[in-house]
Amino acid sequence: MEKLLFVDCCLRGREKSATYQVADTFLKTYREIHPQIQLEEVVLAEEKLPCYTGREIEQRDRLLGAGQLDAPAFRLARQFAQADRILIAAPYWDLSFPAMLKAYIEHICVCGITFGYADGGAEVGLCRAQKLLLVTTSGGAFSEGEMWMRGTGCAYLKALCHMFGIPDFQSLWVQGLDIWGNDRQMLLQQGQSDARELAERW
Ligand SMILES: Cc1cc2nc3c(=O)[nH]c(=O)nc-3n(C[C@H](O)[C@H](O)[C@H](O)COP(=O)(O)O)c2cc1C
Repeated sequence: MEKLLFVDCCLRGREKSATYQVADTFLKTYREIHPQIQLEEVVLAEEKLPCYTGREIEQRDRLLGAGQLDAPAFRLARQFAQADRILIAAPYWDLSFPAMLKAYIEHICVCGITFGYADGGAEVGLCRAQKLLLVTTSGGAFSEGEMWMRGTGCAYLKALCHMFGIPDFQSLWVQGLDIWGNDRQMLLQQGQSDARELAERW
């Protein structure tokens, strides 16, 4: 059975989060079209993952040195590597995404599980997923010309997908929600409509 992993980084809570509303519309549509898909969720507000310090790195290196890829510490990495499709929902914070998502990424970047190295030293992606989608919403709206510096979170996640061996990275970014005078409800509805349309062809 195919698995869809939903990484929920909507830290203001599902009730309040605009990002969650758009991601939820995507998920509902996708699951209507693919009723057989098995949904797994990681709610980062509940996981409360520590950022890596020397302690976590030493533990990781000790486990990897002992070949213990099945250790509980690598649960999230194994889950990520085994998913067929991955949806990440995270609001746009401080030009990228919340630190909690970076902490999650530190936990899933495990050599031998999500990526590795071939004999000649070349990087090899070990993830099963063919597609990863980031759903995000921002207060501001940005022009094409600004995207090289405003879209660093997307560029970073795309690079990570490359390292993980996930060929298809896409983002659905609803912009301008907090601009005074904008019709927030209308923008959100348009975002949800885009989410439905994307889910039909994802
Ligand atoms: C901590 C924090 C940082 C933010 N940083 C930015 C920013 O750099 N640029 C921007 O346009 N909006 C920024 N915003 C606004 C959010 O991107 C916007 O309100 C978004 O829709 C929130 O999504 P949510 O409702 O899912 O939490 C920030 C909001 C918060 C709480």
